[in-house]
This record gives sequence, C-alpha cells and structure tokens, in this order.
Amino acid sequence: MLIDFIYSVYSYIFSCYVLYWGLVIVGCPAIVHVLIKFCWNYYITLWCVTDNELSHLPIPPGTLGYPFIGETIEFIRKNDRFYKSRQDKYGSVYRTHVLGRPTIRVSGAHNLRKILMSENSYVSSQWPPSIRKVLGPYALSMMDDIHEHKERKRLLINLFLPDALNDHIPIIRKTIKHFIDEWCQKGKILGYPQCRNLAFIMAAKCLAGFECDNEMGNELSTIYQSMIHNMFSLPIELPGFGLYKALKAKKQLIQRISENIQKLQNIPVDDRKGVSALDFLLREEDENCRFKTCESIVELMFASHDTTSSAMCSCLMFLGKYPNVIKKVREEIGSDDLDNLTLNDFPKYKYAYNVTKEVLRMTPPVGAGYRKVLKSFQLEGYKIPKGWTVAYGIRDTHHTSPLYTNSDVFNPDRWDDLPNFDRITPDNLETRYNYATFGGGPRTCIGKDFAKLVLKLFVLHVCKSCDWKLENKDAELYYIPVPRAVDGLPLVVQKRKNND
Ligand code: HEM
Repeated sequence: MLIDFIYSVYSYIFSCYVLYWGLVIVGCPAIVHVLIKFCWNYYITLWCVTDNELSHLPIPPGTLGYPFIGETIEFIRKNDRFYKSRQDKYGSVYRTHVLGRPTIRVSGAHNLRKILMSENSYVSSQWPPSIRKVLGPYALSMMDDIHEHKERKRLLINLFLPDALNDHIPIIRKTIKHFIDEWCQKGKILGYPQCRNLAFIMAAKCLAGFECDNEMGNELSTIYQSMIHNMFSLPIELPGFGLYKALKAKKQLIQRISENIQKLQNIPVDDRKGVSALDFLLREEDENCRFKTCESIVELMFASHDTTSSAMCSCLMFLGKYPNVIKKVREEIGSDDLDNLTLNDFPKYKYAYNVTKEVLRMTPPVGAGYRKVLKSFQLEGYKIPKGWTVAYGIRDTHHTSPLYTNSDVFNPDRWDDLPNFDRITPDNLETRYNYATFGGGPRTCIGKDFAKLVLKLFVLHVCKSCDWKLENKDAELYYIPVPRAVDGLPLVVQKRKNND
C-alpha cells in the first residue's frame, strides 16, 4: 500500500514537472512572440505617428507583424491571398507593414479617388531609394516638384497622341507578327518569357528608335535586364551590390541611346524615317537637354516593358482558357485584312477591345500604387497618419467593386453594359475609379493609349493567325512585381490553316 502511495505521489510530481517544462519550452516562445508583436504594434501606432492632428480618430485596423520585417515575409509567401485575407477581415482600409514601411492599404472607387486627387496636398509619389537613383531626377515618375512634373508630362504626352500612335502601328504590327511566326515555327513555347521579349523589342523600336535585328536585340536586352534585375535592391552604391550593377547597366543603355541620337542627327529632319519617341523628343528639346531626353527614354522603356508583357501574357492565358472568346474575336475580324489598320478602324473591333479591358480588370499589371502621406487625413473615419505609406489597391478594387457582378469571372461581354471609362465626364468622376488599371489624377499613366493599342493589335493578330493550347489550364499566378503564371505559361502554338 505504502509503495503504491509513494509511487502515485512520485508520478504526480513527475507529471507536474513534465507539464511545467512543457509549458516553459512551448509556452515561453509563444508568450515572447506575442509580446514582441504587441510591443512593435504599440511602438508603430503610438510613437511613429508624429503629429497630433486628427488624434481623436483611430488608426485603421490590422496587424504590423514583427519588428522591422513587419509582414513582408508573409506578404511574399502568401502572394495575392495576403491582401484578400486582410480585406475580408478588416474591410477596405487597413494597416500592415510591408517592404520596410508602415502602410495603409485602401481599396474602393471612393477611396482611390481621394488618394489620387490628393497628390501634393495630402500625398506624394513614393519610390524605393534604389529605383529613384537608377531612374534619376529627370524621370517623370520621380519628379516631386508639381510644376516641373506638369511641364514634363505636358511634353511627354505628345508622344502618345493619335498621330504618333498611328505612326507606331506598322512597327508594332510587324513585331507582333514576327514573334507569332517564330512561335508557330517552334511549336512549344513559354508564354511569359516570350511576351517579355516581344514587349522589349517593341519598346526598343517604338520608344528608343533601335532597329533591333536579332543580335542587337539580344545585346540590348541583356543590358536592360541587368538594369531591371538589380534596381530593386539595397541602396548601397558599392561594387558587388545590386544598385552598382543597375547603374552600370543604365550607363550602357544611355550610351546606346546616345549613339542613336548621333545617327539621327546626321540625317536631315525631313529625311528621317524614324517615328520613335526619341525622334520626337529630339525635335522638341534642345542640344543641352540630351541627357534628360535619354533619361526619359529609359523611364518609358522601364514603365512600358513589364506592364505590357504581363498584359499580353494574361491575354494568352485567358483566351487559352476560353475558346468561345477566341471564336467571337475571330467572328469580329471576319475576312478583314489587319495589315492596313489605322486608329480609325479600331472602333469596329469592339469585342476585341472588351477582351483587353477585361484582361486588365482581372489581372491589372500594376496591382497597387504607393504614396507617402504628407499630412494626416481622414478616410472612412480613420486617421491616415503623416509619414506612413498609403497604397491604393487596384487589383483589390477591381475584385470587390459592386459594379462588376461575379467579379472573379472572366467575362468580356460585361463591358457592353458598363460605362465608358476611357473619357472623363461629369457623370463618371467617381465611378471611373472602379477601373483603375492606369491609375488616375496627376500621376495617370502617360503610356495608356500606347499600351491599349499594343494589346488590341496583339489580340487581333494572335487570334487571326494561330491556335494555341495551354499546357496547364490551372496555372497558379504570382503577382510580384507583375502578374504572371508561376510556370511561365507553357503553350503549344500552331499556325491557323485557314485564317480568313
Ligand atoms: C498595360 C500597361 C500599363 C499599365 C497597366 C500601366 C499602369 C500605370 C499606373 C497604374 C501608373 C500610375 C502609378 C502611380 O499612381 O503611382 C502608371 C504611371 C506611368 N506609366 Fe504606365 N502603365 C502601362 C503602360 C505604360 C507604357 C506603355 C508607358 C510608356 C510608354 C507607361 C509610362 C508610365 C509613366 C511614365 C508613368 C508615370 C506617370 C507620372 O508619374 O506622372 N506606362 N502606369
């Protein structure tokens, strides 16, 4: 009996001991973990709000993750689900901490309008230091001074007016057709890298005036890729670091553009066949502005390349998933000869245009725009604090807007019943922010008409000239920095036998 009693006392003490250490080992990190998050949250929301304005208002709900890294790792790992889960939980205005900054993410047409129309009063554009350094002070998107920005934008907008766009059509068409022919010859391709090559060659020709045979195309592309891959890096300008490599590549690109300028200047203005953006800028800007001209061309190539390539690849993906949509585009084309199209002919291809709008609604190449808050302001009853970053969510807005029924379904026909967002009218001052693919306000995309033209021509030609099959219809999309199929979108492409 006594032995039994002693044994049960010992086993009780032993169980308590195990339980205690179990709690210490498992529980302690959990408690430390919660404490760290709590202190970080407290520090950011109380101490990093540097002004007393609107102090009666709460900061938007949300979480801030761990010290310094915030929620960046979760953001990269979870991809699109990161924002979806937060939006479901907190609504259209919430706080997070990504890419090194406390950030308020907002969505919804009303909120987007407020942010985009508050440029320079409540917010100003914000770019990471390394990108600022690479694109340089003459890049439109880097200009903080409103007057300087306005003046430069007024000049650059001329590059994409209807006459200029008409001049670009033959080059865009020729390049698209050349790539489609190559794809058909190869039979099997990876859609995403191919669209990147296509978008690069198009930008190099239309914007920088390069003639771009294969050899030159490859050489330029290597320089350009080195700039792009290294520009999203730590702002340390020392050999071996990304920024150093990006700046070196940009210098080489500027050198090549300067050689183009030399060539153009040796030809009398009236004899120049070129219709590139570079050619136009040379006529408008005097000799002292050559560096500025080169910087603008580099910026335009940068702004156009990733965005249009992602959009073209999304066109291949959605059309590949919906053969009935391809059929309707083909019916619209009928037996038309697409080789002599001018801008005046495009209204005829309304359905093809609906396809491009729907692709850009479903997978907008720019998922969000970032601004620095200059002065605290109020949004949906919350304080948006000075010094924080505010991100206006384009993709989030497109997928939650009440304007789009079954917003997750690809349906080009929906555009027949939607307002025309191409033009600003007194009736659509707010509703048009339900479609924010090209941003809005003073920082609206200047290349949007060029991009729309490229996409319309791409959809028309690809539907007319070839059949393609997606090897993986359920390809997962990754959204950073632009939407793309994780597997690169493998395709089997063949020439259409009877494409009339
Ligand atoms: C489908 C293709 C494109 C999309 C989705 C797109 C989207 C955007 C968006 C959302 C912005 C505003 C960013 C912000 O608010 O911070 C923007 C700005 C800009 N885009 Fe585009 N873009 C596209 C193509 C192009 C092309 C082809 C060019 C030039 C040839 C271009 C040049 C620019 C420039 C220079 C800015 C800065 C404007 C400023 O700061 O005033 N984009 N783009």
